[in-house]
Amino acid sequence: MSVSHRSLRLGGMNVAVFPDAEAASLAAVDSLIEILDTARIRRRRAVLGLATGSTPQPVYAHLVHRHRAGVLSFANVSTYNLDEYYPISPLDPRSYRSYMHRHLFSQVDIAPHRAHVLDGTVPEAFAAAHAAEFDRWIEADGGLDFQLLGIGRNGHIGFNEPSDLTVAEALRLPTRLVELHPVTRADAAREFGGENHVIPRALTMGLAPILAARSIVMLAIGAHKAEPVARALTAPMTALLPATLLQSVADKVTWILDEPAAGRLA
Ligand code: GLP
Repeated sequence: MSVSHRSLRLGGMNVAVFPDAEAASLAAVDSLIEILDTARIRRRRAVLGLATGSTPQPVYAHLVHRHRAGVLSFANVSTYNLDEYYPISPLDPRSYRSYMHRHLFSQVDIAPHRAHVLDGTVPEAFAAAHAAEFDRWIEADGGLDFQLLGIGRNGHIGFNEPSDLTVAEALRLPTRLVELHPVTRADAAREFGGENHVIPRALTMGLAPILAARSIVMLAIGAHKAEPVARALTAPMTALLPATLLQSVADKVTWILDEPAAGRLA
């Protein structure tokens, strides 16, 4: 990571704190580019797990910029997104398929059949089968080289919401259909024009396939993330705060924060 930052180690994980949001986003971009470069040198496809939300938008903007400058290609990349509302049409502007299309897929040279987002249009009776199939696609692609994550205000990752499962049970969670937590619904209210309009369910990659990625970057920006970040890094592992479960694979996780998101760390 090029820009000056302070390094911490919490919960066995590397934590890099950057002066501002731009520097933190660029550090995430650098780690993604390193994955693409390594894959290119090894003449194999890079397999990326991607996230949505406001946090990664500048990351995608930088990737698009570099692609346009002719220094970055997605021709040998496949991607798997963390989650999607259910049910939702991919054409709905609030769908994560549509978000990914706008911010990345339509702007770079990724092959359409390698840009995977869970399908919010599968019949409900087939949702579980579709979710299981998604996990098999990732495995068949050789597993995720890299997973980009954001953190919800309630500590969720993807749409793996707080639950009273044991840690062992939570770590085994596969990709599946879930109900959104009230805090998640409140946070999505703006996009949906009111909390009552938020689609209350989603398909999410499970904690098991997320944590199986060979490297994981958690990007958190802004003071509103300071509390969940501090809790996830310092509390013992619990399914009540899914981001604490990153501690179970600590050696492959890097947290990239801006100073406000690190504001509650000692
Ligand atoms: C949503 C997504 C998560 C994301 C989180 C944080 O709930 N399902 O994958 O990490 O929001 O979003 P934001 O980056 O907008 O704070």
